Amino acid sequence: MISEKLQRAREYEEKYIPETAPQLPRYHLTGGVGWINDPNGFSVYKGEYHLFYQYNPYEIKWGPMHWGHVKSADLVHWERLPCALAPDEDFDGDGCFSGSALETPEGRHLLMYTGVYSENGGEQGLQAQCIALGDGLNYEKYPFAPVIGGAEVPNAGSVRDFRDPNISYANGKYRAVIGNRSAEERGRVLLYESEDAISWRFVSELYSCADGGGKMCECPDFFALDGKYALLSCPLEMEAPWPGSAALCVIGSYDGGAERLVQENIQIIDCGTDFYAPQTVLSHDGRRIMMAWLQSWDSCGCHLPGQRFMGQMSVPRELGIKNGRLIQKPVRELELCRRGKTLLYDVAISGECSLSGISGRYLDLTLTLRPETGAEMYRSFTLKLACDGEHESSVCFMPGTGTLRLDRRSCGLPCDIVGMKEFPVRAEKGEIKLRLLLDRYSIELFVNDGEQVASTVIYTPPEAEGISFVCEGAARMDIEKYDIEV
Ligand code: FRU
Repeated sequence: MISEKLQRAREYEEKYIPETAPQLPRYHLTGGVGWINDPNGFSVYKGEYHLFYQYNPYEIKWGPMHWGHVKSADLVHWERLPCALAPDEDFDGDGCFSGSALETPEGRHLLMYTGVYSENGGEQGLQAQCIALGDGLNYEKYPFAPVIGGAEVPNAGSVRDFRDPNISYANGKYRAVIGNRSAEERGRVLLYESEDAISWRFVSELYSCADGGGKMCECPDFFALDGKYALLSCPLEMEAPWPGSAALCVIGSYDGGAERLVQENIQIIDCGTDFYAPQTVLSHDGRRIMMAWLQSWDSCGCHLPGQRFMGQMSVPRELGIKNGRLIQKPVRELELCRRGKTLLYDVAISGECSLSGISGRYLDLTLTLRPETGAEMYRSFTLKLACDGEHESSVCFMPGTGTLRLDRRSCGLPCDIVGMKEFPVRAEKGEIKLRLLLDRYSIELFVNDGEQVASTVIYTPPEAEGISFVCEGAARMDIEKYDIEV
């Protein structure tokens, strides 16, 4: 049964998505119209990838949360599907918040999400977990929802910060990890188990934040990776070294007796300004693939005049673990969209220059940098992108301090937000490899084959296509550049 609210959202999409199309990024996914935040329900169903997202079709700001829906055969070409969930029931009337999805052994598409609701004349903003079953297009909510309510939160944890269930299935059992704020105001991830996805029991506190490490864990995702276990989550209200909120990855081993993650390493997933709420799926061929909201809550009020969409997703990234740390690479399917290769080898650079054949706004560009033989170590190297004399964004490497700086202060964003991020990178003897994905409104930067990634949203007019190189001192570089067409 399609409710009035869902019908209205679907009609709105039909009318306005075609009108908005000319404004959209070329290969970064958006909602087509309106606002999106977290990726939800990233899953394989009947051999195709499905992705849902937090969605308010009617405005370019956060509002009544629906689930928008797309699918893809290859993770780079996405087909829009009608809105999947609207906040149309007593148990989710204040929003269908984030969640996950999987294909059940019976061949149904199961969505698990947080319903936000208020009691009649009573408590507001309560959060509990709900499910819906569907065929990849239409979804029926389980009417006796929620399936995990506030009474199942252990040790008097918060029932207003109890959300974002991430469901998996193995050995005849469903398991779900859910973010929570403990009574002591410590972020934690709770683990639940079920035979039928309807009756759930609490298993354990899988993970809890260290002192100062966050008061509530949003959007957990837990999986095995390269012989270890990884937990992605977004703790709120952290102190140093990542004050505020950020998407973090904890890598460790699994203590099966205590059903707890034993932490070996914790790191920020993306060192840029705009990356949040990542979620993963296991591909047909066993790759762990992650997408995230390419935005931050700080900058999400910034947009261009007349803009009809807000929010985009990162490109899907393949995950791995190297030397105990998470590494990320753009999904290899993106290479199918490469056109017009330009290869420049061993170019000497000193001072500022631009190079024939190297410009554009829809690019996949890899640059390998090394010092000039026999010369002093160069002091800095800067790659300027999306330039037109008035605007520019840049990536600057300083071998002396071993740091990279991503700077969008002059990109043209008409608001006062974080414009620059600097972070340490590995660059022995002044050698570094940078791969940049540039789209109409974003830069994703992969350092040294994905050892570090930094992403930022830019709002530069698409005609600003200039690229230039600046070296203080002398260096040499190889460049491999492709245009991206989808
Ligand atoms: C994270 C988040 C989730 C929540 C959703 C609401 O960005 O706050 O915790 O489910 O967004 O839209």
